[in-house]
Amino acid sequence: MVGSVAEILAGIPMPVVLIGADERVAEANPAAQALFGAGLVGRHHGLGFRQPDLLAAIVQARQGRAGRVRLVSPGLPNDRVHEVTVTPVSGGVLLAFEDLSALAQMDQMRRDFVANVSHELRTPLTAMIGFIETLQGPARNDATARERFLGIMAREAERMNRLVRDLLHLSRVESEERQRPAEEVDIAALARASVAALRPLAERGGVALRLEGAEAPVPLRADADQMTQVLSNLIENAVKYGSPQGAEVLVKLAREEGPRGPQLRLSVSDQGEGIESQHLPRLTERFYRVDGHRSREKGGTGLGLAIVKHIVNRHRGRLIIESEPGKGSRFSALLPLE
Ligand SMILES: Nc1ncnc2c1ncn2[C@@H]1O[C@H](COP(=O)(O)OP(=O)(O)OP(=O)(O)O)[C@@H](O)[C@H]1O
Ligand SMILES: [Mg+2]
Repeated sequence: MVGSVAEILAGIPMPVVLIGADERVAEANPAAQALFGAGLVGRHHGLGFRQPDLLAAIVQARQGRAGRVRLVSPGLPNDRVHEVTVTPVSGGVLLAFEDLSALAQMDQMRRDFVANVSHELRTPLTAMIGFIETLQGPARNDATARERFLGIMAREAERMNRLVRDLLHLSRVESEERQRPAEEVDIAALARASVAALRPLAERGGVALRLEGAEAPVPLRADADQMTQVLSNLIENAVKYGSPQGAEVLVKLAREEGPRGPQLRLSVSDQGEGIESQHLPRLTERFYRVDGHRSREKGGTGLGLAIVKHIVNRHRGRLIIESEPGKGSRFSALLPLE
C-alpha cells in the first residue's frame, strides 16, 4: 500500500472522518479538524457529532448500509450546511462532508429575490386593479375622478415598467461581469451629457448641478452605456435624496494615484440629508432602501445602486460611499486607468 491512511485523508480537500470499530474517531483530516476542532480524534463519535440523523446513519453503516444525511451546524453569519456521505469500510465507518453552505445561501438569495420582485410588482398592480374596478363601477360617470385615476394608473404602470427595465439591466450586467469592456470611451463627454440630461430634474428641485474635471477628454476602457447609467443613477440619487433648495451637487472627474497604479475617481457629492452609517454596507443590495416608503414615492425601485455596483465591478473598479447624516454624501467609483 502506498501512503498511510492519514496521509491519504490529508490530501483530500473536503472534511473526512474515519470512525473505528471502538466507535471512536480514528482519523480526521485537516479539513475535518478545521471544521470540528482538533480534539475530535480519539473521542467517541457521539461526542463529536450530536445530530440524531447522522448518528443513526453511522449505526446503519456499521451494519453495512451506506447513507447520506444533511447536517446543519449553526454558524455566523449563516448556518453551515453539509451533506454527509456515510460509508461502511472494513472495521469502521467513513464520513465525508460536502459543503453545501454556498449553494444553500444562493438558494436563499434567489428565494428572497423572487419574493422582493413579486412584492414590488404586486403593490402597483393592486393599486391599478383597484382603480380599474372603481372606474368600471362607482366612478363610471365621474369625469373628474376618471382623469385623476387615469393619472395615478399611468404612474403605477410607469413604475412597473421601470422595475422590469432595471431588472433586465441588472441581469445583463451580472452576466457580463467577468467580461471586461474592450472599447475606449471619453468619460468626460459622457459626464457632460449626463449632467445636461439631468439638469432639468435638478432645476425643478432647486439644486445646482456642477461638473468639474470634464473640460479635456478622459479616455477610459469602458462601456459607454453602462458608464452613463452609473453617472445618471448617482446624480439622480444626489438630487433626489434630500438635497435642499439651493444646495449643490458636484460631479467630479479626477485622476489620482491608486494602490495599483493610476485611477480615475468619478465622484458625485451632495449636500443632502446623508445616510446613517449602519445602512452604508447594505445600500448596494437589491431593493435596499433607507426609507422604503419615500423612495417608492419618488418612483425608486431600489435597484439603482445594485446596478452601479455591478457595473463598477465589471470595470474592475471599486465603489466607495462616504456619508454623514445631516451633511451629505459622496459616492465615488474608482476606476483603474491603464
Ligand atoms: N445621495 C444619497 N443621499 C441619501 N440617500 C441616498 C443617496 N443615494 C441613495 N440613497 C439611499 O439609498 C437607497 C438605494 O438607492 P438606489 O439608487 O439603489 O435605489 P432608489 O433610488 O430607491 O431606486 P432607483 O435608483 O432604482 O430609482 C435609496 O432608496 C436612498 O434611501
Ligand atoms: Mg437611485
